[in-house]
Amino acid sequence: MLPCTQKMKDLKWKPKGIILSGSPYSVYDEDAPRVDPDVFNYGVPVLGICYGLQEIATTFGGKVEEHTHREYGPAKIQVKKTGNALADRLFEGIETGPEGMQVWMSHGDQLTICPPGFITVADTATSPYTAIAHESRPIFGVQFHPEVSHSIGGKEVIRTFVTEVCGIKGGWSMESFIPREIARIREICGEKGQVIGAVSGGVDSTVAAKIMHEAIGDRFHAIMVDNGVLRMDEAKQVHKMLVEDLGVNLTVVDASDLFLNRLKGVMDPERKRKIIGNTFIEVFEEEAAKLEKQAEDELAQKGGEAKGKIEWLLQGTLYPDVIESISFKGPSATIKTHHNVGGLLENMKLKLIEPLRELFKDEVRALGRLLDIPAHLVGRHPFPGPGLAIRILGEVTREQVKILQHADKIYIEEIRAAGLYDKISQAFVALLPIQAVGVQGDKRTYDQVVALRAVQTEDFMTADWFVYPPEVLRRISSRITNEVKGVNRVVYDVTSKPPGTCDHP
Ligand code: XMP
Repeated sequence: MLPCTQKMKDLKWKPKGIILSGSPYSVYDEDAPRVDPDVFNYGVPVLGICYGLQEIATTFGGKVEEHTHREYGPAKIQVKKTGNALADRLFEGIETGPEGMQVWMSHGDQLTICPPGFITVADTATSPYTAIAHESRPIFGVQFHPEVSHSIGGKEVIRTFVTEVCGIKGGWSMESFIPREIARIREICGEKGQVIGAVSGGVDSTVAAKIMHEAIGDRFHAIMVDNGVLRMDEAKQVHKMLVEDLGVNLTVVDASDLFLNRLKGVMDPERKRKIIGNTFIEVFEEEAAKLEKQAEDELAQKGGEAKGKIEWLLQGTLYPDVIESISFKGPSATIKTHHNVGGLLENMKLKLIEPLRELFKDEVRALGRLLDIPAHLVGRHPFPGPGLAIRILGEVTREQVKILQHADKIYIEEIRAAGLYDKISQAFVALLPIQAVGVQGDKRTYDQVVALRAVQTEDFMTADWFVYPPEVLRRISSRITNEVKGVNRVVYDVTSKPPGTCDHP
C-alpha cells in the first residue's frame, strides 16, 4: 500500500500490477490527489476502483462530473461482451445472473465522457460507464467497490485481475505465512540480541509473543505489568498460558500498589487513562533495564554464548494501523501507536519488530489457532489497556476493583455457558457511581448498581447493543445480586455507538 505521491522511478521493487483505490475527493477538486502519470507507462496492468477509475478517465482525456443521480449502496450492473478479448478479461467466468451483477456503489461523481481508446464493459441504468477497459492495453476501471463484501462477485473481479491479468500466482496462505515470517524474524534478529515485548493476555500480543518464541526461543522475553485493574486472576492466567502452555519466557510485574495509589481520588476517565499509560511506560522501562543489566552480566560471564543485549521491541501492530499511517498528506500526521506502548520507543532506543503488520484481526486469530493457542483465548473480546479503571465510574479503589472483577467473572461465565460469547463482539460490566435502595434477606440495603454491556460490531467504529434472551439476563442478574457483595441492582445498557461507545459508559 503506497500513497499516491509515490513516484514510480523511486520504487525499490517491481510491482506486477497496480490498483488505484477510491478517495473521498473529486478529481476536479483543486487539491485532488493525483497519481504519478508513469503508473500508466510502467508496463504493468492497472485497475482503478471508484476514484481510481475517474483518475484513469481524467488522465486519458475523458470527463468526470458531479451527477444528479448519486449512487450509494446496492446496484445492479450489466456486464457486456465487447468481443475485445483483453477488455472482456476482467469479468470472464464471473456469474452475473439475468438481472445483472449485484455490487456496492458509493459515488457522487461519474464518468460522462469515456476517454478515447477505452470501451465500456459494464453499465447500470443510470451510469453508462460503470466499468471501462482500454482497447489494447491492460488498463481497467470500475466505478463500484469490488473490495467490499456487499459486492457479490467483487472478490472474483479482484482475483481475475490479479491472477489472470497480472499473472500472479495466489500462493499466500496462513500456513505459508508462518515459516516465512519466522525466517524473516530470524534474519532480522541474527544470531544474538534479545527482543522484549509487553503482553496483556489479549489476542494480538499473545499471538505476536508466540511467533517470536517460535522464531528465537528464549531470546524473546515477554513482560506483563499487573496494573491492579485487570480482570480477576488475569495475571495468573496469562502466566499459566504463556509459560506453561506456550513455553514463552515471561516476567509478571505486580505494580498494582503503584497504579492504585496514583489513581486515588481521580474521577475523570481521560486522566485515569493518562496515569495508567504513563505509569505503564515507567514500570515497563524499569523492568527492561533490569533485563538489560542481566544480559550485560551474562555477557561478561559467558562471553559469546550469552543471549546478547536487548535490541528490539516487539509490537503487535496490525495492518489496519499500517493503512491508517499511510496518507498522501504525510505519514506522521496519522501514525497510530498501541494505546499502551506508544511512547516507549523514543526513550528506549530499541528497534521495532512487528510480525503481525500484514494481518487483519481475523487473520491474527487464524494464525493463533495454527500456532496452537487455545480457541477460547484466540476468540477473546478486546480489553482496553486502562482496563477496569475506565469501567469503574468514579474513584478506583481496591474494593471497587474487587466488586467489578467478581461481577465481570459471573457475567462472562454465564454468556459462555449460554453459548453467546462468540456472537458478541465485546461484553463487560461497568460499576456505576451511584447507590440504590434494595431489600435483601428482609433487610433494607443501600448498595451499588452495575450495568451490563454487550455489543456487536464489525470494526468497533459503529456498534449495536446485543439482544439477549430474557432468561439469560435473568440468570446473570440473579447471580450477580446474590453472589457479589455490595451490589443490589443490575441494569442493561441499550445504547448503540454512536451515540454511545463500545466500552466505558
Ligand atoms: P470505544 O469505547 O471507543 O472502544 O467504542 C472501541 C474499542 O477500543 C477499546 N478501547 C481501548 N483500548 N485503551 C485500549 O487499549 C483504551 O484507552 C481504550 N478505550 C477503548 C474498547 O475496549 C473497544 O474494544
